[in-house]
Amino acid sequence: MERTLIIVKPDAVQRGLIGRLLARFEDKGLRIIGMRLQKTPDAIVARHYEVHKDRPFYKSLVGFMTSGPVVVAAIEGPQAITVVRTMLGATDGRQAAPGTIRGDFGIDKQFNLVHASDGPETAKFELELFFKPEELVSYTRASDAWIVSN
Ligand code: CMP
Repeated sequence: MERTLIIVKPDAVQRGLIGRLLARFEDKGLRIIGMRLQKTPDAIVARHYEVHKDRPFYKSLVGFMTSGPVVVAAIEGPQAITVVRTMLGATDGRQAAPGTIRGDFGIDKQFNLVHASDGPETAKFELELFFKPEELVSYTRASDAWIVSN
């Protein structure tokens, strides 16, 4: 089992897509173990995207991510980090494959609907940045026995 962080970005919230996007992760069989709607402070977004701080799009990205509410969620499942990244598709919606979130809902590089952690270390860092340990809930669903066979 792995845990990963997703952010339903301001573009997706403004477009009324929260429910449809979260449903995709539930449909896949993944479990939402923590979730909050928030306006993210500049300092948190800056830490979250620190690796991009020298990129030309950084300032615009921070402005975008602080421009309105987002939904942050912790998601759990077998190989959840890779599975969720695959579900997002390529960064740029124009290149993202049909069937992926960005391929189905987006046509832009910045307004790409959902962020997800890109590896185990990033997932740990991002989960700790957005959630206190007690905000993540360990539980099983009745359906889990019919989603994962072993
Ligand atoms: P995300 O997966 O959250 O990681 C970094 C984000 O920066 C990315 O999604 C996009 O929203 C944004 N981004 C990446 N590349 C570009 C780019 N070339 N121009 C504008 N925004 C970008």
